[in-house]
Amino acid sequence: MASLLIFVALITLSSSLAMAADHSTLQDFCVAESNSKVLLNGFPCKNPSMVQAGDFYFSGLHIAGNTSNAAGSRVTPVATTQIPGLNTLGISLVRIDYAPWGINPPHTHPRATEILTVIEGSLEVGFVTSNPENRLISKILNKGDVFVFPIGLVHYQRNVGNGNAMAIAGLSSQNPGVITIANAVFGSKPDISTDILVKALQVDKSVISKTQSKF
Ligand SMILES: *[C@@H]1O[C@H](CO)[C@@H](O)[C@H](O)[C@H]1NC(C)=O
Repeated sequence: MASLLIFVALITLSSSLAMAADHSTLQDFCVAESNSKVLLNGFPCKNPSMVQAGDFYFSGLHIAGNTSNAAGSRVTPVATTQIPGLNTLGISLVRIDYAPWGINPPHTHPRATEILTVIEGSLEVGFVTSNPENRLISKILNKGDVFVFPIGLVHYQRNVGNGNAMAIAGLSSQNPGVITIANAVFGSKPDISTDILVKALQVDKSVISKTQSKF
């Protein structure tokens, strides 16, 4: 009897560990009612009888994003904000455009694994494993190549060609979230105290102030 209980406990534990993405749905769909005043994890459901095809639809992913910015890249998200029907479904999509030598700077998605495919051009991609190894796992990708960024890990892409590049990526959350490392560390509002960053990064105060002014 005791061994059976331990067995059941282990199965329960391992199945909860295996369900790290968004929760499974308990109904066909739960189209986001984004105007609702109710606050919960995700969005409340729109009345199913009022649901239309447009709730599951987005148009315009053939249009290149504007890459005229400091990083030289643009992410066009297609998540619950763009498609309310994605609410509770645990999946979303992005298009990423890169100017020549543009980067998608180091960032992490707190709620999603990402699977990216190159549609046009060539990209250097990489992610860094957790402490203490912090091993960089990187690769050059060409058109048609696919690469995975595991949930939570810091990753980046860089266009390594003289032409434009474009990728499409799927993410295992209806709302993956993005934390861009430089923006979080140097661009928080209000600023993280300079002396904390001086100690954390082991550089002069002037370097911190200059970096903060850029974010
Ligand atoms: C792209 O963004 C730049 C910088 O914000 C802006 O000046 C330019 O007009 C935009 N181009 C288009 C086609 O929207």
